[in-house]
Amino acid sequence: MRKRLVAGNWKMHGNLIENKNLLNAILPSLDKLPGADFAVCVPYPYLSSVQVLLQGTKVLLGAQTVSQHDKGAYTGEISVNMLKDFGCIYVIVGHSERRMLFGENNQTVAEKYIAAQKGNLVPILCVGETLEQRERGITEEIIKEQLKVVTELAGVESLKNAVIAYEPVWAIGTGKTATPQQAQDVHVFIRKMITAQNTQIAHELTILYGGSVKAGNASELFAMADIDGGLIGGASLIAEEFIAICRAV
Ligand code: PGA
Repeated sequence: MRKRLVAGNWKMHGNLIENKNLLNAILPSLDKLPGADFAVCVPYPYLSSVQVLLQGTKVLLGAQTVSQHDKGAYTGEISVNMLKDFGCIYVIVGHSERRMLFGENNQTVAEKYIAAQKGNLVPILCVGETLEQRERGITEEIIKEQLKVVTELAGVESLKNAVIAYEPVWAIGTGKTATPQQAQDVHVFIRKMITAQNTQIAHELTILYGGSVKAGNASELFAMADIDGGLIGGASLIAEEFIAICRAV
């Protein structure tokens, strides 16, 4: 059976006190929920303090991006081994904000994905189309290209140790959620694309949906056969919302 997962993506939010308050509010509830994994992907400076707060709980730690390089003269960058030092299990790669605001392309995203796996981190690989691409009817083409670069460079087998997050760019932080059917259609497309290479891996692959998931829409999204959980931005910063989303999975 494939793993279900809800991961919070805190983006550039929080501080020492807010993080502690948020985790104190969510951890007791999440610890009681069986049948799924939970994670928080936090800003780099808080990895250490959040690692301590998560100790003895079932919630796993993740980061929001990582360098594709092992080490060297890369001012401002953070390596996979550094993330491992703080107990990270997951790292988000290829989030649309990284692609659009920081110039990451399919090639750099694939390199980060490979680096993460080489260091035993599980990449949460984000793919998704813009509104303009959806309106032009090229959603599948875009997703196919985003995935193809990764499977060509890393091999389809690599998906055994990865999670995919379908995040339509037009739904991120906009309050506009894809309908459950719109999301399901793309999830099916992704699974079919992988099935063409390896049925077993496709069947076991966890595919998350992300983009304005809230307590109010999580259940209907997670009820779709190919939606295995969510990558949650804004709502992961509000304890009651995040707990409700985790319950829904
Ligand atoms: P959102 O963000 O839930 O705030 O739309 C999702 C994401 O960017 O991963």
